[in-house]
Amino acid sequence: MDYLTKPEIFQINRLEAHSDHKYYNTLEEMTKGIMTFRKSLNGNWKFNFSKNLNSRIRDFYKNDYDYSGWDTIKVPGHIQLQGFDAPHYVNTMYPWDGHEVILPPEIPKDYNPVGSYIRTFDIPKNWDKDKVFISFQGVESCFNLWINGEFVGYSEDTFTPAEFEISKFLHEGENKLAVEVIKWCSGSWLEDQDFWRLSGIFRDVYLYSVPKTHIRDIFVKTELSDDLLNSKLKLELKIAGEISNKKVYFELFDKEELKLKSPLTTISNELVLEEYIENISLWSAENPYLYKLNIYVVDENNNLVEVIPQKIGFRKFEMKDKIMHINGKRIVFKGVNRHEFSCYHGRAVTEEEMLWDIKFMKRYNFNAVRTSHYPNNSRWYELCDEYGLYVIDEANIESHGSWQKIGACKPDWVVPGDREDWLPMVLDRAESMLERDKNHPSIIIWSCGNEAFGGEVLYKMSEYFRDRDSSRLVHYESIFWDRRYNDTSDMESRMYAKVTDIEEYLNDNPQKPFINCEYTHAMGNSNGAMHKYTELENKYPMYQGGFIWDYIDQAIMTKDRYGKEFLAFGGDFGDQPTDYNFCVNGVVYADRRPSPKMQEVKQLFCDFKLFPEKNGVLIKNESLFTNANKYILRYTLKKEGISLYSNILIPEVSPLSEKFIELSFPNYTDSGEYIIECSLELVDNTLWEKNGHELCFGQYVYKVESLLEEKTTKKVFVENSDVNLGVKGDNFHIIFSKSYGSMVSVKYNEKQFIKYPPFPNFWRAPTDNDRGNRMANRYSQWKIASLYSRVVNIDISEREDGASITYTYELATSPVTYCKVTYDVNSLGQIKVKMLYDGFEGISEMPAFGMTMKLPADYENVKWYGNGLEETYLDRKHGAKLGIFENKVQDNISDYVVPQECGNKTEVRWFTVTDNKGLGIKVSASIPFEFSALPYTAHELESAGHHFELPNIHNTVLNINKFQMGIGGDDSWGAPTHDEYLIPSDKKIEFEFIMEFLE
Ligand code: GAL
Ligand code: MG
Repeated sequence: MDYLTKPEIFQINRLEAHSDHKYYNTLEEMTKGIMTFRKSLNGNWKFNFSKNLNSRIRDFYKNDYDYSGWDTIKVPGHIQLQGFDAPHYVNTMYPWDGHEVILPPEIPKDYNPVGSYIRTFDIPKNWDKDKVFISFQGVESCFNLWINGEFVGYSEDTFTPAEFEISKFLHEGENKLAVEVIKWCSGSWLEDQDFWRLSGIFRDVYLYSVPKTHIRDIFVKTELSDDLLNSKLKLELKIAGEISNKKVYFELFDKEELKLKSPLTTISNELVLEEYIENISLWSAENPYLYKLNIYVVDENNNLVEVIPQKIGFRKFEMKDKIMHINGKRIVFKGVNRHEFSCYHGRAVTEEEMLWDIKFMKRYNFNAVRTSHYPNNSRWYELCDEYGLYVIDEANIESHGSWQKIGACKPDWVVPGDREDWLPMVLDRAESMLERDKNHPSIIIWSCGNEAFGGEVLYKMSEYFRDRDSSRLVHYESIFWDRRYNDTSDMESRMYAKVTDIEEYLNDNPQKPFINCEYTHAMGNSNGAMHKYTELENKYPMYQGGFIWDYIDQAIMTKDRYGKEFLAFGGDFGDQPTDYNFCVNGVVYADRRPSPKMQEVKQLFCDFKLFPEKNGVLIKNESLFTNANKYILRYTLKKEGISLYSNILIPEVSPLSEKFIELSFPNYTDSGEYIIECSLELVDNTLWEKNGHELCFGQYVYKVESLLEEKTTKKVFVENSDVNLGVKGDNFHIIFSKSYGSMVSVKYNEKQFIKYPPFPNFWRAPTDNDRGNRMANRYSQWKIASLYSRVVNIDISEREDGASITYTYELATSPVTYCKVTYDVNSLGQIKVKMLYDGFEGISEMPAFGMTMKLPADYENVKWYGNGLEETYLDRKHGAKLGIFENKVQDNISDYVVPQECGNKTEVRWFTVTDNKGLGIKVSASIPFEFSALPYTAHELESAGHHFELPNIHNTVLNINKFQMGIGGDDSWGAPTHDEYLIPSDKKIEFEFIMEFLE
């Protein structure tokens, strides 16, 4: 097996790649979708695991080998998720780093797991025994195949099919199939994607046969007229088997109606059918219009030999004036990078999960997906065709660890680089992808892979794509690091570029349009300031959007030591070396629930923008092909968050235009805050969502002022004792301590509300982004300041109807700073809290500015009038609505795998936290503020590495802030929060709010 280390040998006896079409015996089978030509081999197989090649069982494939004692394993599935070996996560470094020092094309010797698989099968009676094949849709990373003791072949490339003809190895009755899957081969140097390192047969395996005349390969080509009204339809066919006396023709259906029938054509091994279709409906992500095409092969008596259903989408994707166009319009990608991932099955993603994904993407206004970083399961592309998503289809090539080491670019032994001996393997991967996927209209761009540096080999690969398929463009990002073959990519693609760098490129006579193949890094609590990227869309025609990194958290469901399920990340399986939770960067949680970050993405990615005013709404329709009249506009007037009036209309706004639509509301003059809220909703049920679904919204807020001011004149009793100051009213008793330096007790009707007194707080539990940019290191004194302040002065003043106490805190910053907190109690028992910080030079920004306190955990119901429903931050609140929302304290803990800051609310007018009897606290302010109500303190969150490390819940922790710094997210390895979302500490800060207690 020395071919394992020969880059020039990546297959033995493997069949040529071909289009992924299905074919049937009869029309009836086709309608039912039952392929009698296919027999699935999915299921339980016999299995043996060995740690390396040396210790593997060598003769297991032989007919007389006794495997009765073997384990079983499920196919498709990963070895490491079924009790053998263990999942291993690393990012850029090769997984054997620190275990064995090897260079390409060598492979590890001590640890290179081998999975030996055995199963038996019969050949269906009605199959032609001389035409039997086997297909492996995905095996990581390479395998040998034997049938009935004889060697059939070998294949590499984890993510494209490997097929072999097996007819000559078969016999009547039971046949034995033996597969040896090896985790690493020379090809693994090109599979250094940032993901869980797994192995095994993880996609479908099936036997197949073909009719005596079989269309092996189809290349559908559409050539649209300049006005996009008509199109040439060209089918390039490759035919295997008998060709004499056979004819072929096709029928094209528009919905169920026959649009065109081609003449009967005599078959040859390669032939082209060509027809001209008039009045076509175009395919786009907005309107994924598919035609049905049936290709029929018939014999001399006109009997059907084979029928092939092929969906056709007419669309034109092209570069025009250095801008990418779809059907004549400038495209803007609102995309996401998707790894195939399931927290239960790894990359053996189920149909159900794929359906969830595609529906989710459509519901949340994505229009594009990049198959980062390898060709996906064929089903995914069918779904993209049908539901409508533009696809960048990416080849399975990444060699990150060969040229970037601990962040530094060191291409001393880069592969493939300019190495001729790696060229065939690279081209093979390109071909396997293109040939399989070429008929999917959703795919508009081929990608040469990810993070494999520059060089001649990848350039040749890009030329292969261009030669073979002129209907698409070619993408490649990594030439950023090696500009010698800049033409490898048709577009300037970057990852995690800062907005300023993008603008610099776009303002400097750019030669190619710009896309972010990866941006706004969704690791943990992130995606801050994403709006700065989407704002470029209308500023620069050559800015064509991007793809969020990334879609789903790659965390694996497993159990803690108490048997409770949790989502594990790198290192949790004892896997080392690892990059820990760096695999968890999704806008969707690993168990497929939308994370709070999606609130922002959905709004920013919507093709429609709504700007309500007092008497109408401006609708900007940025979609390319869809009139707003496809939706309904709902417009609502709210006062203090409560709906007063609502109505609907059908808005007429043509694509790529804007219009002001007048709206009228009943006249309300009562004083208070009013909101005009407009939203677009689905009228019809779609494939992906029911009617009534909201696409996007806009709000306009205004105030009607009141002239009256309410006064209270009840009397209060002030007990200024030696150590404490008591303030008593009708039903309340509040105690301020002079020794503990805070309000230590609030009793209403004898009930104690305070579990731990309020203190100034400037800290937040670092987010993943904070960790990446060393926030804690730069701002650590604010943590110390929050934990270890001391009171240096107390001022008390009494009056008829109230009393106030001011604490001056010395904060343990360096140099020391001060902060004053005044509590002013009135006769109704309302407490006005005022925090004052004067501003000091020479000290870092602060993470937050506010007060924190603990109530008993019984106060678990949260209600607020502010931004919601999901958490918001200074730099991530475009997707939030101003309104009244409710949830439980526990709901505010977001499921970012490593506990961190979460659950913050912005633009808050008031909030309450109550127990189940309705007792609790209300906080309000005249200037909108921020708060969170969580079961843990920032420090508790910060010291837990997993959620199961958090303490049992005893408290409700209130963080009442004037503000908290933004969360950032340009990347998670250094990008700081943008300046305008920081809290400078050299300026005066004042914060005032009112606390009252509810009974
Ligand atoms: C990029 C890479 C992705 C992922 C991301 C960080 O450099 O292409 O695969 O590693 O960074 O999460
Ligand atoms: Mg990488």
